[in-house]
Amino acid sequence: MDNMIQTAEAPAIEFVGVSKTYPTGTNALEDVNIRINNGEFVFIVGKSGAGKSTFMKLIMREEKANTGRITVNGFELTSMHRSQIPKLRRTMGIVFQDFRLIPTMNVFDNVAFAMRVVGASGREVRREVTRALAKVGLGDKARSMPLELSGGEQQRVGLARALVNSPKLVIADEPTGNVDPNMSYEIVSLLTEINRRGTTVLMVTHDHNLVRDFQQRVIMLQDGRIVADNPGGDDQ
Ligand SMILES: Nc1ncnc2c1ncn2[C@@H]1O[C@H](COP(=O)(O)OP(=O)(O)OP(=O)(O)O)[C@@H](O)[C@H]1O
Ligand SMILES: [Mg+2]
Repeated sequence: MDNMIQTAEAPAIEFVGVSKTYPTGTNALEDVNIRINNGEFVFIVGKSGAGKSTFMKLIMREEKANTGRITVNGFELTSMHRSQIPKLRRTMGIVFQDFRLIPTMNVFDNVAFAMRVVGASGREVRREVTRALAKVGLGDKARSMPLELSGGEQQRVGLARALVNSPKLVIADEPTGNVDPNMSYEIVSLLTEINRRGTTVLMVTHDHNLVRDFQQRVIMLQDGRIVADNPGGDDQ
């Protein structure tokens, strides 16, 4: 029954014949066709320059495709007006490799900021920020400043910020790139837990150990093309 519901639904992400050439002439993606369903967890792998970040930037509509059709959470990105971008972004949580916390705001406010910009009430903000910080194990760090935290803790603040608006989709471009191996496992474990509760997760990584150990779908890019799409943990 669950399967029937899932196939009847719109996919979380669909690319049909998508190509992206930067103004410099670099063909970053060529004829990419992929479908990612709601509730999936997908690793995106491939060598440096393969097109992974470009793929993510197209999904968050930070870049626009030259050809093809992209659908994300029901939005048709290729024909969508710029004014719709904030609405699209509200359906996703984004985790950055370099954390991107605001250094002059404490942990609580860094997470709250993501809610305040979408107009949540003060009471809602307090409730959801407290919940998100507890989820990532930082309930006792709400009053700390970002620079007083370790890299792993800063990234967990980034994760809390991505989750606080209960997005349908979380996208993370090398979220473990600047944290130690133990913390990497912790962050992917948190993403796995979030995924188990129904959120679609898309994560770029260079870490073969993570891909092997977490046994999720793996999409491999090479020179802007998808060269492999494996259902469970094989990135070779
Ligand atoms: N803004 C840009 N302008 C011009 N070329 C770009 C731009 N961003 C990326 N590229 C080029 O597009 C190609 C794909 O880049 P992309 O950043 O998507 O690779 P990647 O797989 O994320 O690599 P990495 O693992 O190093 O992060 C590369 O050749 C890169 O030099
Ligand atoms: Mg990249």
